[in-house]
Amino acid sequence: MADQHAQSHEENRPTEIPAIRWDEPPEGPVLVLLDQTRLPAEEVELVCTDAPALVEAIRTLAVRGAPLLGIAGAYGVALAAARGFEVDDAADALASARPTAVNLSHGVRRAQAAHRAALVAGGDQKQAAEAALAAARALHKEDAEASARMAEHGLALLDELLPGGNHRILTHCNTGALVSGGEGTAFAVALAAHRAGRLRRLWVDETRPLLQGARLTAYEAARSGMAYTLLTDNAAGSLFSAGEVDAVLIGADRIAADGSVANKVGSYPLAVLARYHHVPFIVVAPVTTVDPDTLDGASIEVEQRAGHEVTELTAPQVPVAGAEAGGGIPVAPLGTQAYNPAFDVTPPELVTAIVTEEGAVSPVTTEALAELCARSRRV
Ligand code: MRU
Repeated sequence: MADQHAQSHEENRPTEIPAIRWDEPPEGPVLVLLDQTRLPAEEVELVCTDAPALVEAIRTLAVRGAPLLGIAGAYGVALAAARGFEVDDAADALASARPTAVNLSHGVRRAQAAHRAALVAGGDQKQAAEAALAAARALHKEDAEASARMAEHGLALLDELLPGGNHRILTHCNTGALVSGGEGTAFAVALAAHRAGRLRRLWVDETRPLLQGARLTAYEAARSGMAYTLLTDNAAGSLFSAGEVDAVLIGADRIAADGSVANKVGSYPLAVLARYHHVPFIVVAPVTTVDPDTLDGASIEVEQRAGHEVTELTAPQVPVAGAEAGGGIPVAPLGTQAYNPAFDVTPPELVTAIVTEEGAVSPVTTEALAELCARSRRV
């Protein structure tokens, strides 16, 4: 079950409410999410008391973004265990709530393994639930640390590629504190450049159809005090051709073993533009987003979402008079079919570098990524 509370804003914080937190009120443990479908209009908490509510929150994008999906999935397993539900069923439902971001199943399986190991070691249900929660908390903390290290490595790479600072960075979708235990991935690098006085402007793609750029990245950029400008996705080409983009920084939902990068639909066209205009195209993601079991881009499952996200202008959760299936304002003739992949795949040869908490990989090759994953597992 899910419940909602509203809270007030405060300046100079990414949001007043953390993207995710575990709480233990007298009625029993809950997972509290900042409902991202309601931003930027209001900061509203969504309180999940069981795994099905969290699955629904994941599907509707109340909680979203690869690293945060991993953290949410791990807490979801802990929630099922703490509330006495069947843990393996909950884990399967959570892991398959969305298919593309590998972090989701990674987080779920990590908490599930901790739960199982505690039982195998002779622990009772309470101890096993505590083990699952400890695994979720550890992942949450590690993600915050990884975020800080990605920001450091990313800024160092920007300074190397673009000496002199004064960077004009183009970004797509949303990759800040809203998707992370820390300050995010690509956005964390832009934030580090801003704090160092080396960001001239952040160009923010609106990111159709669900407007993660306009609703969420612009919100985070405004609250952090950086100079930013919003553009329609279609305007990126003219911005490149005017020489206004020094680098592209994006996140990733899954990076295949060969370095192919799945990220929010519209990332691949940016990579093509960047190559044509000789602009670095940089992907920032934690090592947990690299999936050695997915060999190449063609093997990445790309989520296909409902057509109404395209045929309607969606004001999430706000009922609109005369609304169609998704509750939004119809903009296409009734019955129009829509093509609505949530992600696209950029081949490794178009990626200048992949920045992780373990450092940057450039050029992006199967061997360099395998070495990075091996190094990360040794630590
Ligand atoms: O559909 P979403 O909003 O979950 O898509 C999110 C993205 O594509 C992000 O760019 C990606 O998860 C990287 S977040 C660090």
